[in-house]
Amino acid sequence: MQQATDSSINELIYQMTLEEKIGQLNQPNASPDLNPDLLRQGSIGSLLNASGALTGQGFSDSGNADISNHFQKLALESRLKIPLIIGRDVIHGFRTVFPIPLAQAAAFNPDLAGEAASVAAREATASGIKWTFAPMLDIARDPRWGRVAEGNGEDPFLGAQLASAIVKGYQGDNLAAPDKLVACAKHYVGYGAAEGGRDYENGEISEPTLRDVYLPPFHAAVKAGIGTLMSAFIDMNGIPATANRRLLTNVLRGEWGFDGFVVSDWESVRELTHHGIAEDDAHAARLALQAGLDMDMVDGVYLDTLGESFQQGKISMEELDEAVRRILRIKHRAGLFDQPFTDPSRASRDILTPEARALARQAAVQSMVLLKNEHQLLPLQGFHRILMAGNFIHARAELFGTWTADGRVEDVTPLDESLRQAAPQGTEVWFADTPDLALNLAHHVDAVVLLLGEHPSRSGENCNVSDLSLPPGQAEFVDRMAALGKPLVLVVFAGRPLAITRQLAQADAVLYAWHPGLEGGAALGDLIFGQASPSGRLPITLPRATGQVPIYYNHKNSGRPLTTDGQFRTRYLDLPTAPLLPFGYGLTYTQFEYTNLKVSHATLRGSLEVSADITNTGARAGVEIVQLYVRDLIGSLTRPVRELKGFQRAALQSGESCRVSFTLREEDLAFTRADGTCGVEPGSFHVWIAPDSQRGLQGEFRL
Ligand code: NOJ
Repeated sequence: MQQATDSSINELIYQMTLEEKIGQLNQPNASPDLNPDLLRQGSIGSLLNASGALTGQGFSDSGNADISNHFQKLALESRLKIPLIIGRDVIHGFRTVFPIPLAQAAAFNPDLAGEAASVAAREATASGIKWTFAPMLDIARDPRWGRVAEGNGEDPFLGAQLASAIVKGYQGDNLAAPDKLVACAKHYVGYGAAEGGRDYENGEISEPTLRDVYLPPFHAAVKAGIGTLMSAFIDMNGIPATANRRLLTNVLRGEWGFDGFVVSDWESVRELTHHGIAEDDAHAARLALQAGLDMDMVDGVYLDTLGESFQQGKISMEELDEAVRRILRIKHRAGLFDQPFTDPSRASRDILTPEARALARQAAVQSMVLLKNEHQLLPLQGFHRILMAGNFIHARAELFGTWTADGRVEDVTPLDESLRQAAPQGTEVWFADTPDLALNLAHHVDAVVLLLGEHPSRSGENCNVSDLSLPPGQAEFVDRMAALGKPLVLVVFAGRPLAITRQLAQADAVLYAWHPGLEGGAALGDLIFGQASPSGRLPITLPRATGQVPIYYNHKNSGRPLTTDGQFRTRYLDLPTAPLLPFGYGLTYTQFEYTNLKVSHATLRGSLEVSADITNTGARAGVEIVQLYVRDLIGSLTRPVRELKGFQRAALQSGESCRVSFTLREEDLAFTRADGTCGVEPGSFHVWIAPDSQRGLQGEFRL
């Protein structure tokens, strides 16, 4: 089968002119002024944003499929009738908007993230889109960076688990199925290391950190069969990712065996001139192509210059053919040669179904993280009158978060309405639009819920901040409300970890809701009033203040860690070193006890089992995310103080216990050494079964 496809692709390439080959590598944006003759001539291999709001085409779903079909028809009028692959940013849902990726990561539930991706695939393909620029797999250790919202947080293990589940959700087992979407792992690689959290800035990443922290989610995506990758904007270690031959070719194709294609990010080929490694567009195009970058997004630099570069002997036909072959291979795999058009009638069946909405609600419930719950204030029960206030009380589309081109405000119940509906009989819920009104009304209620945080437009691409505090005015509002002494719940909406140190101390209960998607209001109602219990965990460290970042749990010990004596230990004079709350942290409405840690063998040979009893000691049912961490005590390179190696969901009734067991294999302990080799080193290890990255039952073993 593969052989037959390869030979039919080679046959097609044999028939292609130089111009047609270069056309396949070209991906313009489908702006209203796009010249249709370019499609008829075979000068376009892919279109970006070919449907929906961004083209100014309005909001009709079936219209979207019609628009895609219209472009496809033009492409099929070309001499060799090669279909387009139409791409779009379907990032956390299409019309059914799921929580932002960072929030989905907080669910620690890869299966659920995979199901969300498969809903997005069904909806997007019903609109004629066959390729999404997701998942974003960038590890982020600096929440000043706005794009932290789009990724899975700081941990490579969690990131890799999510990567593979999401890729399978989008692509399924058969990319040619009408409801499956080609995925694109982005931004390859190191984009999250932008200095100062400033998007597009350069970064420095050592080889071991690149290999062991930044690359694993991408490797997992490739192992899961991802069709495409996107190169990052970043200049990493002096080589812009779009021209990094070692990473795009040696690692990706050579080491990992990736056979799909790589697309640039928006104009990132031309930007090689700005980076200062290319003297002009033609030079930039050659550098990118020869590095292994197959498709040029938007800037038209491949289209405009590769022909002449070939005539001048600066690039070879083999290089061009290889890029074309990779693109045609994915088009084949996606079934586009057999089924280039979308059935417009699918939209009415496949978009925004009740099942999709229910899944979005479940995802939102599982993504919210309970950070504090003094005196078990949550769930709110037995209160006669509750006041709700804050900038999010009427939120609708604000619940979506960044990158939601296809979400619609009319699909969202306003937050106040959702909360009113969720309140139990006999509870009056009051809403106050302004802080002054809220402070007046607060005297007459039994409890206050403040719904605060950052607007989605303060999060996402190039929405970087230098200050991680709540947006202006909100801290003062919390101060004044807290001073009244009413039971106080704080719900924080955000696309990043915010430094809420003062508010965490002031409020009795704090729920981190992120940007939870179109069912966010219903999900919040479920949690606040106890129809559901929180189970989310922080997928990224919560700093005490901006000055602590970058801060992440899997840091190195240093020569002078906190555990040593003396004044000259690693510290700030004006802040504790520890974060506000660590990676993996999250509470629920019951409590869990960890006992009886057992490590099956004193020495790991091949693999061993680590297990513990988890008991629900509280009065309610709940879900505990049980985490496995290890520390390699001595290595030829310094090793992280902890690394996540596993997690499981334990759903337990009140009083119920279960034994949670993890298998740890020798290869799970491998790391990249100074000479670039990867392997395990004999010695002692600590191991924890833990509720978060700072606590837990500790055991040990040797390798
Ligand atoms: C630029 C962004 O960096 C990338 O994530 C996105 O997929 C492309 N634009 C296409 O819109």
